[in-house]
Amino acid sequence: MTASAFIHRFEPARDAGSPPLLLLHGTGGDENDLLGLGKMISPGAALLSPRGRVLEHGMPRFFRRLAEGVFDEDDVRRRAHELGDFVAEARKQYGLAAPIAVGFSNGANIAAALLLLKPEALAGAILLRAMVPLSDPPNADLAGKPVLLLSGQADPIVPASNSASLAALLSEAGARVTHKVLPADHQLSQADVTLARDWVGSVEAKVA
Ligand code: MLT
Repeated sequence: MTASAFIHRFEPARDAGSPPLLLLHGTGGDENDLLGLGKMISPGAALLSPRGRVLEHGMPRFFRRLAEGVFDEDDVRRRAHELGDFVAEARKQYGLAAPIAVGFSNGANIAAALLLLKPEALAGAILLRAMVPLSDPPNADLAGKPVLLLSGQADPIVPASNSASLAALLSEAGARVTHKVLPADHQLSQADVTLARDWVGSVEAKVA
């Protein structure tokens, strides 16, 4: 696999001290969608933003689903490995440290799968409106990896019990999980941006 196997955008760092961000869009989005969010969350960080390679009625996604919230888990596994290979190639090509994933919705779900299946691919993750991606996840070692999980109290797609299970699963694997439930639905709110920015700042302060 080469980095060009995924259509993507790359913006080089303007601040070498900030970890790169891997931006993963939601269903029907593309590689341009989250660039603005990435800049708000970590101004000056390198941004790597691939487009999901699965099409659902023409809408890009990162893996196949059988229905809303019901995933084709073989495809989740395959696509997570494919994305992990892309990240490794892009890191070589662009000279990047391991990125922090910033995923929204379907992008958050593939980021969670990547954490569980290929933990070495990511330095950490911000999961916006994520669900448990695999019903039978592997025993991952996420020791010390920082994860911010932001859920919506009135999210019609992600039940509260599901995001709580994801937080528990990642914590049990050793991740340093911060889980906040916001007064929001599936869409992002200003609070997501503010919390994500402050969290990245605190992670960077620990790395520096
Ligand atoms: C998914 O398919 O990953 C979730 O249902 C979220 C979505 O993309 O709507």
